[in-house]
Amino acid sequence: MPPVHFRTHGHLLLCQHVNCEARGARLLYSALWNALDRERLAYFKSGGTVRLTASGCLGACSFGPVLCVYRERAGQLEEGWYAAADLPLALQVARATHEQTALPDDRKYGP
Ligand code: FES
Repeated sequence: MPPVHFRTHGHLLLCQHVNCEARGARLLYSALWNALDRERLAYFKSGGTVRLTASGCLGACSFGPVLCVYRERAGQLEEGWYAAADLPLALQVARATHEQTALPDDRKYGP
């Protein structure tokens, strides 16, 4: 029997490599999982649609913690990249992903 596939609205990646770790990325990862669980945004919760994965270096080491999100919106792949992420910002990104609304502009860089 194949594994259960959870349909999601997007996938957040949070860097856990050394520079981001030194800026609190490990604690942020735990706090964000707790918040996703509490707010029922996590993909494994009933009605939840957001994935979160610890990642390796995302290439902006002097600006961490670095968070990125990939999601499909209006039939297009959209990506959002964030520097100096903290819990309020990461939760805003997660909520926008879940609600399929515009991603926040605060600390966003790249495309
Ligand atoms: S260590 Fe996080 S982006 Fe490189």
